[in-house]
Amino acid sequence: MAHFLIFTTVLALVSVVHSQCGSGTPNAMVAGSGSSFTATKGSSTVYTGSDYRAAIQAAVDSISSGQRVSVMASGSIGASTITISSGKIFEGCGTINVGNRAGHGAIESLNTQGVQIPYLTMTGNPYFGLRFYGTRDLTLGKITMNLSGGLGIRFDRDAAANSNVKMDVISVTGAGSHAVETWNIDGLTINQVIARNVGESGLLLQKTTNAKVGLVDGNNVATGTGYATFRMANNNGQNPNGNYNTNVYIDKVVSRGGGRGIFCVSQSGGVVIESVDLANNGNNAILIENCYNVSIRGGTVNGGGEVRLAARSEFPNNRDIWITLTVNSNTVRESPCGENTNWTLSGSASKSIC
Ligand SMILES: *[C@@H]1O[C@H](CO)[C@@H](O)[C@H](O)[C@H]1NC(C)=O
Ligand SMILES: *[C@@H]1O[C@H](CO)[C@@H](O)[C@H](O)[C@H]1NC(C)=O
Ligand SMILES: *[C@@H]1O[C@H](CO)[C@@H](O)[C@H](O)[C@H]1NC(C)=O
Repeated sequence: MAHFLIFTTVLALVSVVHSQCGSGTPNAMVAGSGSSFTATKGSSTVYTGSDYRAAIQAAVDSISSGQRVSVMASGSIGASTITISSGKIFEGCGTINVGNRAGHGAIESLNTQGVQIPYLTMTGNPYFGLRFYGTRDLTLGKITMNLSGGLGIRFDRDAAANSNVKMDVISVTGAGSHAVETWNIDGLTINQVIARNVGESGLLLQKTTNAKVGLVDGNNVATGTGYATFRMANNNGQNPNGNYNTNVYIDKVVSRGGGRGIFCVSQSGGVVIESVDLANNGNNAILIENCYNVSIRGGTVNGGGEVRLAARSEFPNNRDIWITLTVNSNTVRESPCGENTNWTLSGSASKSIC
């Protein structure tokens, strides 16, 4: 299928950059440890001192568009922000520990074009680990966030829109909020989002169109909440002309335990999910509420909270929901009846559908 080919192309694009973090000859580098850091651009020293954040920012500021900075050193930036401007390639090869700067990202790229972050390892408790808006041609590669709270990757709601965003493998552990939250993206390609022990959603898409995602895989995501390993909300997948022709393609959603598995809400849709593998979700394995043109084409739900089509009165009812699914040790409920719902169900679940 076309979208599998696209994933392969994305991987190729990302790996063209450099096969290993810091390999080759980066234009600028940050070295050191403890309370001694040095930033160099070629043979010139652009920072030396005890401030890890200042060393990184000096290195970033020293390069021009199209050049690469590799942060080899590990350290803590505290409750502050590193800013990446257009066209720069940022590699976080050491472990960047971060603090919580209210309303901000530990690393931000705002109103930029062509920024790349091929590698990043982050620890700590940020407000947002990475924060973006107004980006074009942004590429994130292998991003590993081992957090003790906060939100992993966030595209802002009340800010300029983004286009052509690519992500390879995003692994987030321990976020208190979402692993990845998007708003306002037209053209998003993600290889994998892997979320472990995350407080809210694994992948949350909002007002995002023309999206292709390989895998969303959550374990213990959204426990005790209404969030989900994969959530679509706030008119996600609604085309600019208002219709819901399919433009969001998801290959697979895997979810174990946690809160919900898949949740579509608040006039979202235009989505095909090829396959699901959901088990023991603490809230609905699948909840589709006021969504349009949603298709789940196969896979299995084992146990967990009920598979449910529902509607709130504030929005038009579900419409054009097509679900082919095996559901075991659970119930499937459609209430109220949607418009043009098509169920192809197998498995042991009891059914209360229209
Ligand atoms: C990630 O966190 C786990 C425990 O929370 C820890 O064992 C592991 O070493 C951490 N990895 C990094 C790169 O910080
Ligand atoms: C759902 O999307 C498909 C693919 O674009 C389109 O053919 C179909 O008309 C859509 N259905 C509705 C009812 O919007
Ligand atoms: C319901 O979905 C099945 C499987 O996709 C399809 O074969 C069938 O034609 C659909 N039924 C209607 C009434 O559209």
